Amino acid sequence: MRVEPLIFTAAAAATATTNASLPSLHVPKCPRSAVAYVDQSVPDRGPFPMTTVSLCYDDTSIQLAFKAFNETNYYYNASQTTNGDIWEYEVMEAFLYHGTNDPTTYLEYEVNPNNVTYQAVVYNPTKVRAVGAPFDHFFVTDPATDGFTATTTLDKSKNTWESVAKIPLALFNVDQVKGSRWRMNFFRTITSPSTYPNQTLGAWSPPDQASFHMSPYFGHVVFV
Ligand SMILES: *[C@@H]1O[C@H](CO)[C@@H](O)[C@H](O)[C@H]1NC(C)=O
Ligand SMILES: *[C@@H]1O[C@H](CO)[C@@H](O)[C@H](O)[C@H]1NC(C)=O
Ligand SMILES: *[C@@H]1O[C@H](CO)[C@@H](O)[C@H](O)[C@H]1NC(C)=O
Ligand SMILES: *[C@@H]1O[C@H](CO)[C@@H](O)[C@H](O)[C@H]1NC(C)=O
Ligand SMILES: *[C@@H]1O[C@H](CO)[C@@H](O)[C@H](O)[C@H]1NC(C)=O
Repeated sequence: MRVEPLIFTAAAAATATTNASLPSLHVPKCPRSAVAYVDQSVPDRGPFPMTTVSLCYDDTSIQLAFKAFNETNYYYNASQTTNGDIWEYEVMEAFLYHGTNDPTTYLEYEVNPNNVTYQAVVYNPTKVRAVGAPFDHFFVTDPATDGFTATTTLDKSKNTWESVAKIPLALFNVDQVKGSRWRMNFFRTITSPSTYPNQTLGAWSPPDQASFHMSPYFGHVVFV
């Protein structure tokens, strides 16, 4: 009897996109910046409330300014703290990898409307979080000392929230920052007391499944 192993699903998903269809971004040195638009739903690529991620770099960090528009819920769990499961509620996220290939490890960074952050290196050897395959997280346990910063501002009269974050470049083994090439994706989750735990998902480069952990979909980024 012929059995299709799970790895077949992973391989099919990994070739479901081509680099030609992936978004790309040229990111300048701060204070200039480039903007990634998180405005498509996952996985159907329909309309999604506008979300912008402005990126720039300096000698020691990547700066990410996330801004969520059309926010009505500001839904988070006040008992969650650093590296808690904040992704169960509302967050904005960046997945970052220094290199050009589809990564099996990358930094997962998240921030919520309560200014709580999540930062972990993800281990995803199938690149698509295949069912039954290993999938792990290695947390950054002292982000403030390591050089992470975050500042979050809510403006409920304008239905927005913003988080400006710095992520230390030293995490990524970059010798020459200018000209370095990256794979990245950006996301936002939306939920509310009446819809939780269900979420509406949005991405810069939407995967073809309701999962963010599919690195063949990461867009291409160059620091110029
Ligand atoms: C977002 O809000 C603006 C007005 O602030 C509105 O014009 C637009 O239709 C809204 N978009 C979505 C996707 O809700
Ligand atoms: C918030 O998180 C805590 C700790 O994980 C959990 O016990 C509690 O049920 C959560 N509350 C809500 C409203 O989801
Ligand atoms: C995208 O390009 C990288 C190299 O630049 C390659 O390793 C990867 O397999 C490509 N992904 C797809 C889906 O073709
Ligand atoms: C948010 O958290 C950071 C630490 O990650 C802290 O430095 C900052 O003061 C906090 N407050 C606001 C309003 O962003
Ligand atoms: C969550 O989604 C499932 C599947 O569509 C649905 O059956 C369920 O009622 C939803 N739950 C809430 C709280 O909206």
